[in-house]
Amino acid sequence: MNTKEIFKKMNYGPAPEANATVQEWLDSHAEGFGIYVNGEWVKQTDGHFDSKNPATGEVLGKVTQTSEDNLNKAVAAARAAQPEWQAVGGHGRAKYLYAIARLIQQKARSLAVLETMDNGKSVRESKTADVPLVIRHFYYHAGWAQLSDTEHAGYQPLGVIGQVIPWNFPLLMAAWKIAPAIAAGNTVVIKPAEYTSLSLLMLTELFAEAGLPAGVVNVVTGDGAVGEMIVKHPDIDKIAFTGSTAVGRRIREQTAGSGKKLTLELGGKSPYIVFDDADIDSAVEGLVDSIWFNQGQVCCAGSRLLVQETIAERFIEKVKQRMDKLIVGSPLDKNTDVGAIVDPIQKQRISSIVDQSVAEGASCYQPDVEMPEDGCFYPPTLLSDLNTVNIAAREEIFGPVLSTLVFREQREAIALANNTTYGLAATIWSDNINRALDVAPQLKAGVVWVNTSNRFDASCGFGGYKESGMGREGGKEGMLDYMKPVDGLVTDAPSYDTSSTGDSASATGITGVNQTAKLYIGGKQKRSDNENTLTVNNAAGNAIGRVPEGNRKDIRNAVEAAAKAAGWASATQHTKAQILYYLAENLSYRKQEFSTRLQQSVGYGASEAEAEFDASINLIFTYAAWCDKYEGAVHSPPMRGVTLAMNEAVGVIGICAPDDSPLLSLLGLILPAVAMGNTVVTVPSQTAPLVATDLYQVFETSDIPAGVINIVTGNRDELAKVMAEHMQVDSIWYHGSEEGCATVEQASVANLKRTWVNQGQHWDWYKTGQERTFLHQATEVKNIWIPYGD
Ligand code: NAI
Repeated sequence: MNTKEIFKKMNYGPAPEANATVQEWLDSHAEGFGIYVNGEWVKQTDGHFDSKNPATGEVLGKVTQTSEDNLNKAVAAARAAQPEWQAVGGHGRAKYLYAIARLIQQKARSLAVLETMDNGKSVRESKTADVPLVIRHFYYHAGWAQLSDTEHAGYQPLGVIGQVIPWNFPLLMAAWKIAPAIAAGNTVVIKPAEYTSLSLLMLTELFAEAGLPAGVVNVVTGDGAVGEMIVKHPDIDKIAFTGSTAVGRRIREQTAGSGKKLTLELGGKSPYIVFDDADIDSAVEGLVDSIWFNQGQVCCAGSRLLVQETIAERFIEKVKQRMDKLIVGSPLDKNTDVGAIVDPIQKQRISSIVDQSVAEGASCYQPDVEMPEDGCFYPPTLLSDLNTVNIAAREEIFGPVLSTLVFREQREAIALANNTTYGLAATIWSDNINRALDVAPQLKAGVVWVNTSNRFDASCGFGGYKESGMGREGGKEGMLDYMKPVDGLVTDAPSYDTSSTGDSASATGITGVNQTAKLYIGGKQKRSDNENTLTVNNAAGNAIGRVPEGNRKDIRNAVEAAAKAAGWASATQHTKAQILYYLAENLSYRKQEFSTRLQQSVGYGASEAEAEFDASINLIFTYAAWCDKYEGAVHSPPMRGVTLAMNEAVGVIGICAPDDSPLLSLLGLILPAVAMGNTVVTVPSQTAPLVATDLYQVFETSDIPAGVINIVTGNRDELAKVMAEHMQVDSIWYHGSEEGCATVEQASVANLKRTWVNQGQHWDWYKTGQERTFLHQATEVKNIWIPYGD
């Protein structure tokens, strides 16, 4: 190319990042990388695989496929180290996390270069996004460790955490997982993805350099089989996974009933909404960042462009012009915008979805940019003329491919945005902040960016709704997912009886019993679908009444009623508080009646019954008080702007109440859910259901809107399974037998609903001060990012 041509094209010349130091490090491990167990590098004699540079195909190193024996050693080391690590205390742990952050800062360039060589992402991104965020995570969580005595009083670590991470942000995901886990006093066994193990191995050397005690972080490498061994290991207390929804679903299945806690950060098909009042040039730049950052291999990539019809043509034209300027090339070149795809298998997957989309009618635009001759690259791609059932509008592609849909008005944009099984992130572009803040809460997504895109920070929780997973990482809520209350579950209460309440009989021809209650669905008293009833006995075994034997159809009706009452979430918190106070007032007039019912049902003496009743009134007041006090937060991440962390209702919560303290426990579960704007379908105590059915008259007189609380009596475990399988139930809280817990977790796999089960144990319902635990379960945190300025 002569000078004239260079001036004409104005192309950048090559600007390669030096990688000699990293190459030296790789050479020093030429004989193969070991795994890190109990503070030592362990070499396996067999079982190795190559880790390759996707941009060149070159082998970077040999990585260990961890054996079962070595995995067991890693878990044993983590278990042995945990009590002492907890005993180090908050300040002690903070010092280690701080030291790690400092060491990463010193090694930042090497880590970034290695990440780029192993993953294929552009070095500009690994240097300016990945590694700085890794550092930020260790600093931020050093802070939580330091403050743990006061800020996490009443909580304790879970124990040993098994962590399995993906290949798209290998270092960052490691930091997201390790930093909060160890800050909370847990120990860790972590596995990187098989395509990208190297940067975590380099980071592990820094853990050793920081003097982190042996066994606190153990690093095992290998493929999905090693991941599965971690998931199934009996001595691990929690699994934290990031990756595909398919594997997440399998992990949900495999951990069901094991007592392990679980957080899943899964896929997405996130909408990028551009209204006609947006600053179009900024929205185009934001889009470049949203879908071509990391080659679109980002769980929260704005892969579904929803653009308003009035500007669609102009906007898409501008996007195409911008695509023409994207530089696809060597990830180690500082000018590169779009680097390499992590592996040929992924490239093949992207390519086949694009082909199918085109076969289904999409138009495909790929700019005529220079593509590297070798290596694993895929061009930036725009698919338009899509309908909503086109594969590219529905499925996560995980590549540099943008799918485009057009909408006419705001309502349609929201409907299209939510028309997905996922719910991870969303972006809104509009110069009307009132509109943006009206739309944001209506989007079913854990993160919403307003007039910006793909922002992350350790202080702002990240995580999804629906099939995008459960739990949050980052922020205070992320820390809570690595801890459990010190008290709460007690083991000395009676065990659960999983048999039915009594015989099943037709509603007609009952003799010798004095009351037949009804179901309470949609604000109305209803017979059960099959018209069968169950005998309710008193503590002495004599029949005192009958309750309907609810079935699948009754649960369906109740869920439908609860879903219809979703408007409850948008009632003001003041209104909700007033209604709960009114409930307390109305219930308090009926002290005598409820005390008698409790004595009869449970066999209490008068004072015990009164104590439970008084505690129940107190609890209603407590949750009425919390209504307008369990608030979100305004985070100040390092940017000019704010992030609003809003507590939102989860949706429809299925609640199975325990048998002990039947009035107090039922209210203890219903009230936090309702106070936070959820609607509930509840299966009350199986042995004392009349306590619950007596309540519906009180609900009716207390202005609780129809459908907000629904009661279905019957066999707890059968009905729990139906609720867990129901796609419209968003979360299920189960208090019953251990087998019931397992069933609920297994049955909720289909829509990956949140579950909260008691592991066959019992709460101390009289203990006050536990409300935050319940309120945390009753809410999803949505982080809305709003930058300042033009
Ligand atoms: P993957 O979900 O199979 O891999 C993620 C991690 O899980 C890796 O460490 C892997 O070794 C491990 N793993 C695989 N099978 C496992 C099992 N049965 N039990 C425990 N751990 C297991 O993702 P993959 O196959 O690498 O990518 C496939 C698709 O998944 C991508 O095209 C993309 O759509 C999606 N994906 C989404 C990610 C996200 O962050 N949302 C990250 C990675 C992939």
